Amino acid sequence: MDQSDLLRHTADLAIEFLDGLPERRVGPTASIEELRTALGGPLPERGEEPREVVERLARSADPGLVGMAGPRYFGFVIGGHVPAALAADWLTSTWDQNATLYVTSPANSVAEEVAAGWLLEILDLPRTASVGFTTGCAMASFTALAAARHAVLRRAGWDVEADGLFGAPEIDVVVGEEVHVTILAALQYLGFGRERVKRAATDAQGRMDAASLRQVLAGCRGPLIVCAQAGNVNTGAFDPLEEIVEAVRERGGWLHVDGAFGLWAAASPALSHLVRGAAGADSWATDGHKWLNVPYDSGIVIVGDPESHRAAMTIAAAYLVQTEGRERDPFDYVPEFSRRARGFTVWAALRSLGRQGMAELVERCCNLARRFAARLGAEPGIEILNEIVLNQVLVRFHPPAGGDADALTREVIARVQADGTCWLGGTTWHGVAAMRISVSNWSTTEGDVDVSAEAILRAYRQAIAAA
Ligand SMILES: Cc1ncc(COP(=O)(O)O)c(C=O)c1O
Repeated sequence: MDQSDLLRHTADLAIEFLDGLPERRVGPTASIEELRTALGGPLPERGEEPREVVERLARSADPGLVGMAGPRYFGFVIGGHVPAALAADWLTSTWDQNATLYVTSPANSVAEEVAAGWLLEILDLPRTASVGFTTGCAMASFTALAAARHAVLRRAGWDVEADGLFGAPEIDVVVGEEVHVTILAALQYLGFGRERVKRAATDAQGRMDAASLRQVLAGCRGPLIVCAQAGNVNTGAFDPLEEIVEAVRERGGWLHVDGAFGLWAAASPALSHLVRGAAGADSWATDGHKWLNVPYDSGIVIVGDPESHRAAMTIAAAYLVQTEGRERDPFDYVPEFSRRARGFTVWAALRSLGRQGMAELVERCCNLARRFAARLGAEPGIEILNEIVLNQVLVRFHPPAGGDADALTREVIARVQADGTCWLGGTTWHGVAAMRISVSNWSTTEGDVDVSAEAILRAYRQAIAAA
């Protein structure tokens, strides 16, 4: 079998998977032992035929795959892939470009440049900002906070890239009580320490309290970095960005906004009020692989001061043919050196959706989240814990005669996962167990929400009956 036949056959396997996705059981069916048996065994002494390898992989992996690209996956905050982005991803693998420099892939460099411009437009952020394409939002925040570290220490006369943090002026880092764990991870990687941060209080929806932030800032003396959030991972709530921008500006600090999915509210005229003020921040992190529905992995970092962005990331070596800013060298904007050409998929998603398609996608998901909340909230004993401002729904299940709602909620989640109609996970929200529903997939329909809500109600009734 030649390479063309192999790839056509592989495309058939991939298409078969995609065709089955809407009806597929969403969770996996295989146990870890079954997967180890199917994929394991000794390293072959002699290589196998590529067709055999691919068929074995497809057959062995299938029962351990999760239908997260499909329409009834509501776990974490996970998008699917719009068709043009998936196709572009296939081409990206085929082209096998190393996206380090302009010279290693002029096409990727320009695709990134163009996609960067479109992103700034659709997210309505300063058009002069610089953009990097990372693995995800975690690395996007890491990159942004490295740029922040550079900028605030440079203003204090310290070169952190050359001299590190030993002996540097001490930076105050302020986050909200509901900070996403990946911000703390980024602070950990950057030498700031996870536990050293100062925390501003948040309200019942997880929004940072601007008055509390001002109080915390009043006690800060050094160079300052503040991390705010657009879209709480549990509730979808937004920090009051306008007020936060003002407070941080007054103190001459750097404001970073973690907007992994929430920043996309800017794409919708009906929802853009949620991110009002965001453009006044200094850096932003978001994802392509969540609401833009680009295949994994795809994160986006945006920095208002391109010089700080480049200074924090760039690497110089004698053998590198760098362009000194004439053309885009993608590695100037991300922590990686060699990497996948991530610009093509973002370019393709934005081009295929357009401004209107993106607005519709975001609004559709939010409408579907409200539909979920209405269906579930109508059932006695089911409580919707959050205000549905975006695409996130938190649900809690109460025993009819009173009793342990935490245990019942966890039981309902386990039953829904075992049922397989849809998949969603759990969380602890302000001390109580909750089911988390996130509607982030372009292909989810009202019908998908209705059958999923039915499956959840069934699981609730069964759990009550079994108690
Ligand atoms: C608010 C927020 N920030 C950061 C992240 C991390 O994003 P990623 O998994 O793409 O690194 C998430 C993921 O759910 C998130 O919701």
